[in-house]
Amino acid sequence: MDVKVAKTAGFCFGVKRAVEEVYKVAETTKGTVYTYGPIIHNEEVVSDLEKKGVKVLETEEDLKNLTEGTVIIRSHGVPKYIYELLEERNISYVDVTCPFVLKIHRIVEKESAQGKHIVIVGDPNHPEVVGIKGWCQRKATIIKTKEDAKSFLAESGEKLCIVSQTTFNYNNFQEIVEILSEKGYDKLVLNTICNATQDRQSEAAQIAKQVDAMIVVGGKHSSNTQKLYEICKSECKDTYYIQTLADLDSEGFPSVQCVGITAGASTPNKIIEEVSKHVRIKF
Ligand code: F3S
Repeated sequence: MDVKVAKTAGFCFGVKRAVEEVYKVAETTKGTVYTYGPIIHNEEVVSDLEKKGVKVLETEEDLKNLTEGTVIIRSHGVPKYIYELLEERNISYVDVTCPFVLKIHRIVEKESAQGKHIVIVGDPNHPEVVGIKGWCQRKATIIKTKEDAKSFLAESGEKLCIVSQTTFNYNNFQEIVEILSEKGYDKLVLNTICNATQDRQSEAAQIAKQVDAMIVVGGKHSSNTQKLYEICKSECKDTYYIQTLADLDSEGFPSVQCVGITAGASTPNKIIEEVSKHVRIKF
């Protein structure tokens, strides 16, 4: 059987780098290693790290109560005051914020220091957006929907700097920028959307077009995996959504010539390899 595994399946560059770094730090560091928030939304990875002694700090309170150990700042990044808090307390840390997110921190820090009102297009509850807001020196507004954009009002004479959450949908970002443009504000628009998601979706669609059956691996609650599934399903009617290898057999996978495999952003390589190996041997 011919099996095509998407090159962009699974972890993006930033998450891969962060996860590898946690394993490295866990192996080489004395004392307890903590991640500030789960390093990734994948229970397998988090519990595997737990076995290696890596603990998750769930809240800011947990962080404040720390007296020892090494804290890992995950790929989403954190507000500036978190670095200050760690430094004040002499807690060592390893920063694995994705370089694309760090770039946004530098932009908003600089532009807000120059007096601009920062507009972050994104989800206010997403840790990445909370982190970006925490680098703004003065006023910042988060806009998630077209309605938010419509009701937004800047002060007279204020200049805007508009950035976006890295995983925000490009079309929605454009629509929001358009609404703000119609209001006639003086603005600097920086599209800071990361291509990783877009690339993964395009490659999945390409592969799904060419194969007899398609497998999408990822958590059932992962929105980016659900989106991948929809894209593949529209190109290939025999598309299967599985969380792990165990789901594949129970799905009654057909006997076909050519199979494509892709995976959501939080799916470890190990699971993708297991699935592809199994498909090659079994079907
Ligand atoms: Fe991943 Fe960094 Fe892009 S974490 S989605 S490569 S911004």
